[in-house]
Amino acid sequence: MNLDLPNVARVYDFLLGGTAYWSRDRSFGLRILHEFPEFRDIARAHRVFVNRVVRQLVRLGVRQFLDIGSGVLSTGNTHQIADEIAPCRVVYVDNEPVTAAQTELALDDDGDPRRHAVVDVDLRDPAAVWAGALATGVLDPQEPVAVLMFSVLQFFPPGLDDEASRAVAHYRELVPTGSYLGVSHVTDDGIPDAVTPKLAKLKQLCESWYHTAFHCRSRAAIRALLGDFELLAPGMVWVPQWHPEDHAGPLEAISFSTPNHSMVWAGVGRKR
Ligand SMILES: C[S@@+](CC[C@H](N)C(=O)[O-])C[C@H]1O[C@@H](n2cnc3c(N)ncnc32)[C@H](O)[C@@H]1O
Repeated sequence: MNLDLPNVARVYDFLLGGTAYWSRDRSFGLRILHEFPEFRDIARAHRVFVNRVVRQLVRLGVRQFLDIGSGVLSTGNTHQIADEIAPCRVVYVDNEPVTAAQTELALDDDGDPRRHAVVDVDLRDPAAVWAGALATGVLDPQEPVAVLMFSVLQFFPPGLDDEASRAVAHYRELVPTGSYLGVSHVTDDGIPDAVTPKLAKLKQLCESWYHTAFHCRSRAAIRALLGDFELLAPGMVWVPQWHPEDHAGPLEAISFSTPNHSMVWAGVGRKR
């Protein structure tokens, strides 16, 4: 970890209008917005989608979440959104130590230690994530759990595609029947032509500033991450198309001229 570099969790927080970012994250965020002014709306539309999924799953009866690549606690966190409908148990997972520590502090203030926890583990080690999550005492391994992998897999470079897919498959195996898996992923598949050069610039910025990959997968590759899980309606869609009728939540819905301007494919599946 290099604290001199901007960090993806905190840049995302800057774009969402949070308060957990540092000045280098703000500078980087502003640099992105200079090249790609629509990117703030893209981040916010994504977070609106994340909040919709959490609400929808709680309405379907889910009472425990494993939120992997959770980021810093920002606007509209899983435990807060879920608790608005029913008391739920949430374990956050992030492998960036400052992010995990910030989450721990925020939960000290705002969480319930019997129901909310964070583990600092790399998602590429599903057995360690699962063991760490169970060790918190928050999750019941016999009960269905919603595993959320939102906007995290794009930070694995193309060379790690197989490793990422294997890890996601392992999560599908670990969870009991009736569990859910939600995936969202930035894409270059089906986006408007006008966005393509901006996306290329964004990738270049991430690689040069963050020293991190910003890898776009195809819709088919993102769909494949859900394996044989039964896809919930409305299927694998652009994020603004996932239950747009749900207007609740701390962030206002973002409208794009066409949904593919959101640049993120997403879907949620259920283990049969
Ligand atoms: C853009 S944030 C996503 C936040 C949240 N999931 C959302 O969609 O609103 C991506 C997060 O994934 C985390 N991350 C990246 N690679 C990871 C890995 N290998 N294991 C665990 N977390 C990872 C980053 O530290 C960052 O906090």
